[in-house]
Amino acid sequence: MRLLRLSIRFVLPLVILLAVVAYGVIPLVDSLELKWFVRDLDMRSKIMVNTMEGPLADLLVSNSKDKILAYFTRIRQDERLYAVGFCDLDHQLLYETQAYPQDVTCKDTLDLAPNSSAVRSFSSGPLHIASASIESNGRRLGRLLLIHDMSFIQQRSSDTKWYVFYLFAGLTAVISLVTVLVAHFIWKGWMAGVRALLKGERLLTPLTHDEHAPELRPLAKDLRSLVQALESDRRMRDESQISWTPASLKTILHEQLAGDQVLIVSNRQPYAHYWKDGNVVVQVPASGLVSALEPVMRACSGIWVAHGNGPADREVVDKRDHVAVPPSHPSYEIRRVWLTGEEEAGYYYGFANEGLWPLCHIAHVRPTFRSSDWKHYVAINERFSQAVYEEATTDNPVVLVQDYHFALLPKLIRDKLPTATIIMFWHIPWPNAESFGICPWREEILEGLLGSSILGFHTRVHCNNFIDSVDRLLEARIDRNSSTVSYGGKMTAVNPYPISIEWPLQWLHGQRSIPECRTKLREAYGMTPDRLVGLGVERLDYTKGILERFMAVERLLELQPEWIGKFTFVQIAAPSRSMIEQYHHFTAQVSTLAEQINKRFGRDGYEPICLRIQHHEPAQVHECYRGADLCVVSSLHDGMNLVAKEFVGARDDEQGVLILSQFTGAARELTEAVVINPYDIDQFAAALHLGLTMPKVEQRARMQSMRGLIQEFNVYRWAGRMLIDAARMRQKERVMKHVRRRPSLLN
Ligand code: F6P
Repeated sequence: MRLLRLSIRFVLPLVILLAVVAYGVIPLVDSLELKWFVRDLDMRSKIMVNTMEGPLADLLVSNSKDKILAYFTRIRQDERLYAVGFCDLDHQLLYETQAYPQDVTCKDTLDLAPNSSAVRSFSSGPLHIASASIESNGRRLGRLLLIHDMSFIQQRSSDTKWYVFYLFAGLTAVISLVTVLVAHFIWKGWMAGVRALLKGERLLTPLTHDEHAPELRPLAKDLRSLVQALESDRRMRDESQISWTPASLKTILHEQLAGDQVLIVSNRQPYAHYWKDGNVVVQVPASGLVSALEPVMRACSGIWVAHGNGPADREVVDKRDHVAVPPSHPSYEIRRVWLTGEEEAGYYYGFANEGLWPLCHIAHVRPTFRSSDWKHYVAINERFSQAVYEEATTDNPVVLVQDYHFALLPKLIRDKLPTATIIMFWHIPWPNAESFGICPWREEILEGLLGSSILGFHTRVHCNNFIDSVDRLLEARIDRNSSTVSYGGKMTAVNPYPISIEWPLQWLHGQRSIPECRTKLREAYGMTPDRLVGLGVERLDYTKGILERFMAVERLLELQPEWIGKFTFVQIAAPSRSMIEQYHHFTAQVSTLAEQINKRFGRDGYEPICLRIQHHEPAQVHECYRGADLCVVSSLHDGMNLVAKEFVGARDDEQGVLILSQFTGAARELTEAVVINPYDIDQFAAALHLGLTMPKVEQRARMQSMRGLIQEFNVYRWAGRMLIDAARMRQKERVMKHVRRRPSLLN
């Protein structure tokens, strides 16, 4: 039936074309042909006249009738010459050959100009008549008439008509047949392609394997984008309908990942063991990464592979280097990986923190790259990949790799466990392609990261910077619409997943009330109960803008001396990476500046800045959050910054002001904070004043809104989104495997 439709669709125009040929082209050809023949006869007649003129004149002068008639008969033997006649000067037909047409009289041809010809119709049919004057020695003797039969022209014309018609008919038939067949096959292939597209087939394949016909690729691309837009829309709706708690995360694990094994890998471990007075004690390190992932791991169970850096760590592990945590109610295990001092110096202090850390943060500290550090970095990444491999109980676990210490790990794991789902989360910013390009091992790092199934950053800007770096440095296929990179036949989704904190915060459990915390904080630092307190909580790191914040405090006291004695800034600073010269130097700078300001504005029993360089346990930190009037996060550059979110999370009284650097990822979400540029010290000082004088009603309004946001977008949602995406990816891979096994489905 479709063939019939196709035939009609393609044959009909060709039949119409044939009709046009029959009624337009053939008459045209006919008239042209007639013209050519008449011209031919004119020529022939002229040549004959030229040939006959002399002999005929002689014969006429000799008046030899027989000879003349014999001459005419000879001439007449030309098959196309119908008759020859001669008219005397009285217009009488004097001589004529046999079969001379009686109706062609000398008088009738008088109108013909001398030595010319014409086609005339007679009862016997159309005749070509040529008339030529015959003279002898300048004396006119009469007119020679050469009559050609035109009927053979008619015959030829009719033959030609049929030839042309048959030729066009034949051509038409062949063209129709070829067209119909070609159209049929193209249509068939195209329809199969469109059908496959609409069924979603091959939309799932990585872009490197785009098997669609070239003309279908734009359509496939649009459909892919549409599917992705619908998916992300559905995901957003799905996500917002879930109330994100440890329980919902567990449900996702069981329902969407069918209870698949979850492994986390990070350099920093969530619990470290130390010696204290001859006993082993546990410490939770000051790390945003740990505070975000620990609750996730409590919810998911599984194994957390990390560097065992605590002095008493080896005391508590079993023979597989495992220890169950949290110590009070174990719900998951840490698998400790051991490093020598030299390895730690090269991999952690060297390549990760003197190379990648300053490379990724715009804090004006020059990165240092050493080949020896790189070698350790490669070796330790390999060691961790081996540990992951040993811990995997299936060949396709979900592995969550954390941060810049493990840029090579995704690829190394992929080599050992090709079907694992590897989610890599980069906790720090990703620089622009030009800045990243200065790293001597830039290609290796990108290739390592592209071993991941999903690569996460805090913000879209960092995702785009990463994609730009790949674009500049690798031969990869990039789809910016879907934010995917295909490299070496493997696709990586590059997505923003803004990290957050647990909600509600475990550290609020059993916490003192806000008034108690206020009192405790002031007592701890020897302050009067009415003192207004600003708080900073950080690792001692040059990216955190600690010097700038001290300068802002100094400027505030300079410009508004009424705050002297009434306002104190408490800086809790955990010692960090102190083996690195930059950090050493920075610690000294921070201490010196605090001393200078205290000297300048300090009074009896009053110090504007209280700097405490020591480790604080999370519960202590949260007590400080609850006791302060404002919290300052003034990073010069920060992926997210969880201190900002923790402060908001700790303030269930909906009071307190957050002063937040515009260069943190958090500033994109916590827009009700007082946002500052930490380099602008006057603006920063004004923000401190604003915070100290902000009416309670305004504090409440801002805090309520920020708390609402963190409650909704908590760390369970952060992890849940990545796990849901991973589950979808696994599902797609399963479908693809199935489809590949049954290629007939694609045809
Ligand atoms: O900001 C990146 C990061 O890994 C954080 O996640 C974490 O807070 C911090 O660095 C920890 O640094 P370190 O492990 O070197 O003490």
